[in-house]
Amino acid sequence: MTASSPSPADFRQAYAGQPPWDIGQLQPALAEVADQIRGSVLDAGCGTGDAVLFFAARGQDAYGVDFVPEVIATARAAAAQRGLSAAFLVMDALALDQLPRQFDNVIDCGLFHVLGDADRTPYLRVVRHVLRPGGRLWLVCFSEQEPPGPGPRRVARGELESAFADGWEIESLERVRMQAAAHVPADAYSPGGPQAYRLIARRVA
Ligand SMILES: C[S@@+](CC[C@H](N)C(=O)[O-])C[C@H]1O[C@@H](n2cnc3c(N)ncnc32)[C@H](O)[C@@H]1O
Repeated sequence: MTASSPSPADFRQAYAGQPPWDIGQLQPALAEVADQIRGSVLDAGCGTGDAVLFFAARGQDAYGVDFVPEVIATARAAAAQRGLSAAFLVMDALALDQLPRQFDNVIDCGLFHVLGDADRTPYLRVVRHVLRPGGRLWLVCFSEQEPPGPGPRRVARGELESAFADGWEIESLERVRMQAAAHVPADAYSPGGPQAYRLIARRVA
């Protein structure tokens, strides 16, 4: 049981340094399936915005939300520098149901695995709300195969299967690796990178 989710202050501190997850590009586990991610995209917990900018560069309608204002400023500056049209909002991802629109896809690259147990049900509710019926969630999280150590909580396959049992069709749940930033010591995680899951779940009506 994990008591509570981290606060914006926890992440602000991480972004003041070099966050181990900030690799400056789309995570390979998402790049592998990027051609299947068509239509509008909302990245929940977008950080510096690499995923949003990837899809914006392909001409897709791309939004990112994060609750750390400084990191949203960084993402906006990166979009401006690259001349890309993308929207970045400072907001709590647990309030996604406040957005006045729906998306074809939601990306979660490292958000679910930082949430405390009590926030999982609200998360699932708002992600469903912001996805159009038939839309897909593309989620990458640390898995229970990654030994205890630094980084977020490890998520078991069964936790994902039960979280997405109702109102969702799990189209794919595969073992993948996450890539850590270049400055992270090679022995901080499993050889080849943190063991992870990539879940593709379709919202059913
Ligand atoms: C592990 S980082 C991953 C960032 C980014 N998706 C990436 O792959 O580089 C998790 C991100 O989620 C954000 N976050 C965590 N909880 C959040 C919440 N409740 N609402 C919005 N953003 C949140 C953090 O500020 C952080 O940027």
